[in-house]
Amino acid sequence: MNCTRQIAPDLYWVGASDRRLALFENAYPIPRGISYNAYLALDEKTVLLDTVDQAVSCQFFENLEHLLGSRSLDYVIVNHMEPDHCAALRELVLRYPDVQIVGNAKTQAMIGQFFDADLSRNFLCVKEGDTLCSGRRAYTFVMAPMVHWPETMVTYETSEKILFSADAFGTFGALNGNLFADEVDFARDWLDDARRYYTNIVGKYGVQVQSLLKKAAGLEIRLLCPLHGPIWRENIGWFVEKYQRWGTWTPEERGVLIAYGSVYGHTQNAAEILASGLAEKGVRNIAMYDVSGIHPSYLVSEAFRFSHLVLASSTYNNGIFTPMETFLLDLRAHALQNRTVALIENGTWAPQSGRLMREILASMKEISVLEETVSLKSSVKEPQRQALLAMAAALAADLSGNQQ
Ligand code: FEO
Repeated sequence: MNCTRQIAPDLYWVGASDRRLALFENAYPIPRGISYNAYLALDEKTVLLDTVDQAVSCQFFENLEHLLGSRSLDYVIVNHMEPDHCAALRELVLRYPDVQIVGNAKTQAMIGQFFDADLSRNFLCVKEGDTLCSGRRAYTFVMAPMVHWPETMVTYETSEKILFSADAFGTFGALNGNLFADEVDFARDWLDDARRYYTNIVGKYGVQVQSLLKKAAGLEIRLLCPLHGPIWRENIGWFVEKYQRWGTWTPEERGVLIAYGSVYGHTQNAAEILASGLAEKGVRNIAMYDVSGIHPSYLVSEAFRFSHLVLASSTYNNGIFTPMETFLLDLRAHALQNRTVALIENGTWAPQSGRLMREILASMKEISVLEETVSLKSSVKEPQRQALLAMAAALAADLSGNQQ
């Protein structure tokens, strides 16, 4: 049965949610599921904006058929060719053979790559600034290359000032009836998933996100329609401000993320002593994680949130403890920058992890690493406890803006 909702005059959400998928992109845990948003405008011409993932295509086609009734589908605007949004495109053309597929030159090339069918007869190629009129509405196309694929574009509907923003402003999490961000407590229930979505999926491409935000700044936006998660019609600036921070790798909060990789608990002990020292110095915003017990996507997200990081790692196979190495390489892959980092290493006969973590951090931009690594041989003794308290004092001073 269809399950649609009107979101503006003659404009409908026709997407669907998936609560069965364990890993988005077969990589990121999504315990709260995911939504694939698609939108249908019933104007003089009918216009669909994007399709959905294969897994929810039955629901999508029920929604679409219900709203179209006996009408045909005139256009499908393809803002993004990743299969979580375009997998249903081939079947869409089989069902509506005269539909015009609206995309840019890169979209067209990718259609040829993904599908064993010649859809060129259906393709309408657009470029930056082109406009498609459907009657009462007009759609202007804005290229957004590498946010986060090269063909990505966003579509601005000029009569009602609606931005269809592709993956930008999307979030993990299935929609639970309430489609609008103002119908839920977004800051409480969605922001962490929105940050984890942004940082892991788009985070590497902050420069390109900035370009898109600059273009969007020239537009009045009354409705913001992403391809995942809630739709925005109130307080849009609050969410845009989050994107401005994330896109410039600006910390969202001043505070300390402590991530430790500990084999037998001694490195954890060092992290706990450091955290206590920070608390004694008045630091209140501290988060601590065992890197072995949490998916790195959560850690990457937290690293984007906090201004200061402490990485504490055992030495393993003469290298960095594997889950910590994975986390660090993930931070580098997502181009994390503009952070202060302190290091703690452990090794029973040859501590190496501090030097190796420092090498990875040195290959990243705008990362300031405290000069002193606290080095343990097996466990914390009094000199290391003192060194950890000194590290806590240095971090607390840096957090409060004091010079050492
Ligand atoms: Fe939601 Fe880049 O696909």
